[in-house]
Amino acid sequence: MAEPTTLTPTRTYMQNVRGETTETLPVWLMRQAGRYLPEYLEVRGKYSFLDVCHTPELACEVTLQPIRRYGFDASILFSDILVPLAPMGAKIDFNPGPEIANPLRTYDDLKQVKTFEAREKLPEVLEAVSLIRRELPEETSFIGFAGAPFTLASYWIEGGKPEPFATIKTMMYTEPKLFHEFLDQLAQMVAEYLVAQAEAGANAVQVFDTWAGVLTLKDFREHLLPSLHKIFTRLREAGIPSTYYAKGAAHLLPALGDLGASVISLDWRIDIEEARRTLGETTVFQGNLDPTVLLGDEATIRRETRHIIDVVGDRPHVFNLGHGILRMTPIDNVHIMLDEIRNGGRA
Ligand code: CP3
Repeated sequence: MAEPTTLTPTRTYMQNVRGETTETLPVWLMRQAGRYLPEYLEVRGKYSFLDVCHTPELACEVTLQPIRRYGFDASILFSDILVPLAPMGAKIDFNPGPEIANPLRTYDDLKQVKTFEAREKLPEVLEAVSLIRRELPEETSFIGFAGAPFTLASYWIEGGKPEPFATIKTMMYTEPKLFHEFLDQLAQMVAEYLVAQAEAGANAVQVFDTWAGVLTLKDFREHLLPSLHKIFTRLREAGIPSTYYAKGAAHLLPALGDLGASVISLDWRIDIEEARRTLGETTVFQGNLDPTVLLGDEATIRRETRHIIDVVGDRPHVFNLGHGILRMTPIDNVHIMLDEIRNGGRA
């Protein structure tokens, strides 16, 4: 993909993702548009979650809300990882957690899965991407996203909240061929969808593999790495910077360097220095403030934010939380964190 001509030196997110150090760390928060914001709740009072996802003007409005309020360095498309599963045949609803009425369990179920072509199946999402890129300030980078094959499969196979992963893990161990065919089909969708989002205006993409940490390192390598590697290879070939996020995945670190992602997003339980020792000095990380810190007092927020800035030192890094912002987060606490990052100086 050609370098966007609008890229300016003030896009600190893009610089760090590409391995350059900037004077202040770029910052955005996972789930930065959402229920902790009164302006989001106002929109949700009138429209359902899926209506917001499927209406470009509404998706654009809620995507921009946290940028207007906080001036984050990056914006993330308002949608959900499960949105592309519906055109593939999943019957999904949010109440508010996701529920899938037709869980995928057998070869016959897999045969019913429809192929995915983003422009044909989700034109409104790509329209939202283009609209958002036009509306965003020039200096704000725009991140597209998708779920990783295993995390998507965990919802579809379990039919909703995936814990304790009994059905999907049993399938992985006892029917590996079916499991791999399903993951490969999801990987094709993910790669195609992310490239389409970049072509519509996203500057970079993130792959959410929230549940990968429930597997052992051996099983991650054997069962997940091949489909993930295909996705990141496709993104690299297309020149699209990418980030891989997994929760509770400290034990998977030795394999994450093999993914081919530009950035590894860490949850709050992984020590950045240890991650660096495992993956090497040149790996760019994102994260990893515990979202609960933002519920604390000012001194706590400043101290914990500073700790990450100090550990990062003079290396490239994308400041973020270790998981999504909690809905009970007081909105002013985000300002305190931002002040420490932007006015506190680097180590
Ligand atoms: O980060 C962002 O601001 C972009 C939008 C975004 C949402 N979900 C919006 C959302 C993104 C990137 C996601 C990713 C997502 N969705 C993941 C991976 C990251 C993670 O959080 O672990 C997963 C596992 C999902 C599936 C999902 N969607 C769940 C489990 C839930 C219910 C839990 C909850 O928070 O209510 C959702 C709903 C959802 N996705 C909401 C939002 C803002 C809440 C919708 C509402 O009621 O308004």
